[in-house]
Amino acid sequence: MKGIILAGGTGSRLYPSTKVLSKQLLPVYDKPMIYYPISVLMIAGIREILIICNKEDISLYKNLLGDGAQFGLNFQFEIQTEARGLADAFIVGEDFIGNSKVALILGDNLFYGSGFGSLIREASNFDSGAVIFGLEVNNPSDFGIAKIDSNNKVIELIEKPKTLVSNIAIPGLYFYDNTVVELAKSLKPSHRGEIEITDLNQKYLDKNQLKLTRFPRGITWMDTGTPINYYKASEFVRVMEERTGKKIACLEEVAFLNQYISMDTLKKHVDNLPTCEYKFYLENLL
Ligand code: TTP
Repeated sequence: MKGIILAGGTGSRLYPSTKVLSKQLLPVYDKPMIYYPISVLMIAGIREILIICNKEDISLYKNLLGDGAQFGLNFQFEIQTEARGLADAFIVGEDFIGNSKVALILGDNLFYGSGFGSLIREASNFDSGAVIFGLEVNNPSDFGIAKIDSNNKVIELIEKPKTLVSNIAIPGLYFYDNTVVELAKSLKPSHRGEIEITDLNQKYLDKNQLKLTRFPRGITWMDTGTPINYYKASEFVRVMEERTGKKIACLEEVAFLNQYISMDTLKKHVDNLPTCEYKFYLENLL
């Protein structure tokens, strides 16, 4: 399976911080936001990754991430000329996807928790259709929501429901079979002028090919798109890292532990880092 990270968009809710810098390049505590979704794809076993961003940011993303070799990955980059919606990822990414299955993760989403890796690796093991995730939230009217039965079978998908129909939100991580490209092309823009991921998932639901995997209560999902949520995510990472002594989304560490890079490659990379806490952490790991 290949992976796509959506790192475009307008970032309007974080203005003026996003006036000259892409939201996904802002730091979440001690590393750029995009490190978090990259680590999720790596943990899922995905090593071929397309980063979709706005035209003015592509050189920054390339400077930050390079070709991915230092993490045992292969990064490619594409421009999204306008924020046409989340489902546009599969149209922009058509050539990259080729004949593969594909995972999409939103560049401003953060996942963390015990058992998360095995859960997503297991969920990525499907032949056809789509896999989405679901977790309980306090404020369902802010999210795409799934109404499910007692076997976690999806009955209905609702975008930001005004009345309480279900408190199961769908986070920004989705797995699709290869038909996703044609399905995305068939979508009509919504009233806000975007092709919506909910409409894409609805197509799979209509064909009875949409599977939902529930996150247990120990798994945290955060979206960093507003000032308060951005701040909370940074604080969450700081507290967790301080308590456990383990970094969240340290890409070099994930690469090393998953055997995507050798100890030698890691050593060389660490030697080249400037003196900083991130370097000390990796030196300790070595
Ligand atoms: P959103 O947070 O929904 O939108 P946004 O980032 O443009 O921010 P705002 O609403 O404050 O203006 O997007 C979710 C993620 O998907 C985010 O990481 C940006 C990315 N995205 C794209 O890359 N292209 C798009 O067309 C859209 C809508 C979002």
